[in-house]
Amino acid sequence: MNQPDLSVEIGGISLKNPVMSASGCYGYGKEYGAFYDVEKLGALVVKGTTLEPREGNPPPRIVETAAGILNSVGLQNPGVEYFINEEIRTFSGSSIPLIVNIAGNLEEEYIRLAEKLDPVKEVSGLEVNISCPNVKKGGMAFGTDVECAHRLVKGVRAVTSKPLIVKLSPNVTDITGVALAAQEAGADALSLINTLLGMAIDIHSRKPVLGNVLGGLSGPAVKPVALRMVWQVSEKVRIPVVGMGGIMTAEDALEFIMAGASAVAVGTANFINPLAIPDIIEGIAGYMIENNIREFKELIGAARKGA
Ligand code: FUM
Repeated sequence: MNQPDLSVEIGGISLKNPVMSASGCYGYGKEYGAFYDVEKLGALVVKGTTLEPREGNPPPRIVETAAGILNSVGLQNPGVEYFINEEIRTFSGSSIPLIVNIAGNLEEEYIRLAEKLDPVKEVSGLEVNISCPNVKKGGMAFGTDVECAHRLVKGVRAVTSKPLIVKLSPNVTDITGVALAAQEAGADALSLINTLLGMAIDIHSRKPVLGNVLGGLSGPAVKPVALRMVWQVSEKVRIPVVGMGGIMTAEDALEFIMAGASAVAVGTANFINPLAIPDIIEGIAGYMIENNIREFKELIGAARKGA
């Protein structure tokens, strides 16, 4: 069999393969250029970008746990102006879609970010981050309230024609309510899950380990929860879902795809194996060849048939 067709479209963004970087776990892409050609990615999703530069939370900001990591970075980033004026240069000439994750404390900040990024031709889409658990205001607060999520996405939708991928929080009782609200407000796609709120305690100092006390859990520990949420959401919405949460291998990615995800994002795995993304792309292609599947799209939601 010839090379299978791995291409897929996510809310108007054409991807040559369904594997993208997860925001915050891949820098601005150039950090991985020493390991492989970053143009291999289906799409590059960059760190949460805010209107103003942010220093982030006090250290420690990362803790290893039994099957994942807790982070409380606090959206450290150089701000949107720096991103547009400096970082963006790295992407001119790139052939892969660049998706900018936007975050803020207030609804108006998301709207201003979308306005500023709308004319930037290098940007293929916006990932609207209504799920960051590590900021005192905004972030996850928008993604845990159906009405707030709806209002915010509607506001952003009104000021940009760029495709919008709304990133959902798992820290809710029913993720499908927020998913439907985002769709109704004009989202072109959804990405899920962001991290699960957690913490660690140092029994010697008898204090929380993270400087910010609470953090977001990612890595293999969250995979079954993420998979369940992708299953539930893709059953309810008509827009594409990008699945993420503990994807370490091609087999993990295939589970998300068979649950209904049209694409996947890889985060924590990059810290353990810098080649995780190309390995996963190759693994998906290998599975398709072994199983005589020509088009990747045939696999989307494969486990739902008859379930
Ligand atoms: O703390 C952080 O920067 C995390 C961001 C996020 O989870 O969206």
